[in-house]
Amino acid sequence: MAKEKDVKTPKKRKAPSKKAVVKQKAAIAEESKEKELVEEILAEVAAPEEISSTPRRSVAFIGSECYPFVKTGGLGDVMHALPKALVKQNCDVKVILPRYKCIPWEYQEKMIYRGAFEMDLCADGRSFYVGIMEYVWDGVVYDFIDNEEFFSNGSPYTNLVDDIPKYCYFAKAALAALNYMDWIPDIIHCHDWQAALVPVYLRTQFEHTKLTTAKTILTIHNLRFQGIYNIPTIRYWSGLPDHLFCKDVLKTSHQDANMMKGGLAYANMITTVSPTYAGEIQSAYYGETLDAHLRYHSGKLRGIINGIDYDIWDPAADGRLYANYTLHNALEQKKENKRRLQEELGLTQDDGKFVIGLISRLTDQKGLDLVNAILSQVMDDHTQVVVLGTGDRVYEDSFRYYENAFRGSVCSNIMYDETRAHRIYAGADALLVPSRFEPCGLTQLIAMHYGTIPIVRETGGLKDTVEPYNMFTNAGNGFTFDRYDAGLLLDAINRAKTLYFEARSCWDEMVLRDMEKDLSWENSAKQYKDLYLGLT
Ligand code: ADP
Ligand code: GLC
Repeated sequence: MAKEKDVKTPKKRKAPSKKAVVKQKAAIAEESKEKELVEEILAEVAAPEEISSTPRRSVAFIGSECYPFVKTGGLGDVMHALPKALVKQNCDVKVILPRYKCIPWEYQEKMIYRGAFEMDLCADGRSFYVGIMEYVWDGVVYDFIDNEEFFSNGSPYTNLVDDIPKYCYFAKAALAALNYMDWIPDIIHCHDWQAALVPVYLRTQFEHTKLTTAKTILTIHNLRFQGIYNIPTIRYWSGLPDHLFCKDVLKTSHQDANMMKGGLAYANMITTVSPTYAGEIQSAYYGETLDAHLRYHSGKLRGIINGIDYDIWDPAADGRLYANYTLHNALEQKKENKRRLQEELGLTQDDGKFVIGLISRLTDQKGLDLVNAILSQVMDDHTQVVVLGTGDRVYEDSFRYYENAFRGSVCSNIMYDETRAHRIYAGADALLVPSRFEPCGLTQLIAMHYGTIPIVRETGGLKDTVEPYNMFTNAGNGFTFDRYDAGLLLDAINRAKTLYFEARSCWDEMVLRDMEKDLSWENSAKQYKDLYLGLT
């Protein structure tokens, strides 16, 4: 199956400059007469952006989506934020993406034509046009592969019949474009199944080109999606030699080939987006039938946790919020955000209510059957629930049902809306992430940064980032449960409610603790840089 996501491109948004953001922070601090803080913030303006002194490396990122051009989920966030963070680690980064027709015109019109050529692709030598359009932003070069035949659909992912040829083409065209531009990176960093054939092409059809010196990394953002289709189709579209359709590389069953499997075999290094998920995917339960293959390649497998982009996610400067806040006024201002959110969504306006948010693709991965099973028991006179998401019909309909059943207390926003997401992160008290599996998860990170307490299942990146609240030591960042069980989810929500209503000062301390937690990309970008240095 292709990524089962509803695709929306983000609305126009004017990003504040770093200087403007810092000035705004200073103004907020000054208002609260925090002299020391003002000085600290102004020093930030004076300090030049620090670039790491480790040796320089060039990196080509290859993937199928990237904010703000096109995003369906966390992969889009990472493809935007990690290259920016790597620039500060002394990396020269080019991001290679498909030039989908759905990329907003405001970006399309700024792209500059870099060249074009014909490329052989299929087993019968059929060739295709490859255009290169370039856009430079924030120190990162974005090169878009242009081909109307493959990328003119309204959304990036449609169905495998179209997506298999599309991403065979994209993987090969990305390498061919690097060759054409004569840009030979030290590292080629590929993301998910859509770019998984890159390492395979590099070591076969490109082995006599200059690119062959590059080392490859394949990052798994979600193992559920692998690019599986019958062998004749993948053999035809990829044009890859027959000997690769064996069980150690591309063949996954008697009749099917698996693009992710081939990439995992050929990449110099495999990473995934949290240490726990790196362990989990080697087990049958989480391994999506590739667990044995991953155990075999475990020597080159690492987990590196994602971060969040503080330029986009910053409650002090977020232009989409009703009221900005810092650590110094969060408790008050979050109430204002809550009241305004309730007003906008038609909920009873009362900042004493416990507001639970859920921002998610509405698919099986996200544990929504658990939420469905217990939502009626969660609802009482003191609780409100705000859902934002699109996806499987069954979940969209059930959340609509709950909105009707609990008018004024439940609001189901069956849509993709960046602004609404920001406002829910700021206005809710808690955010629910009860996933069946979660490679990393960004929503719990954003929630914590906005002082919203996560309630999560202990799996993948959720386990690595949310330390369970301990009532004896008053430590921790959120509420957690382990087994995939609706009763345990209900219990976690009830524990959260109890703390909120009966020990508000402990709750408030957790809000501030979460806001202070370092969730930036800096540490993770350093780990990727170490990996690059180790490989080259
Ligand atoms: P996944 O990639 O599995 O969907 P993540 O937690 O890694 O999950 O990332 C989800 C990203 O998509 C976050 O940035 C989240 O805010 C955003 N998001 C998800 N659903 C919506 C929606 N309906 N509207 C706006 N943003 C959304
Ligand atoms: C995937 C995963 C999510 C992760 C994101 C970014 O979509 O489902 O857990 O945060 O990729 O790596």
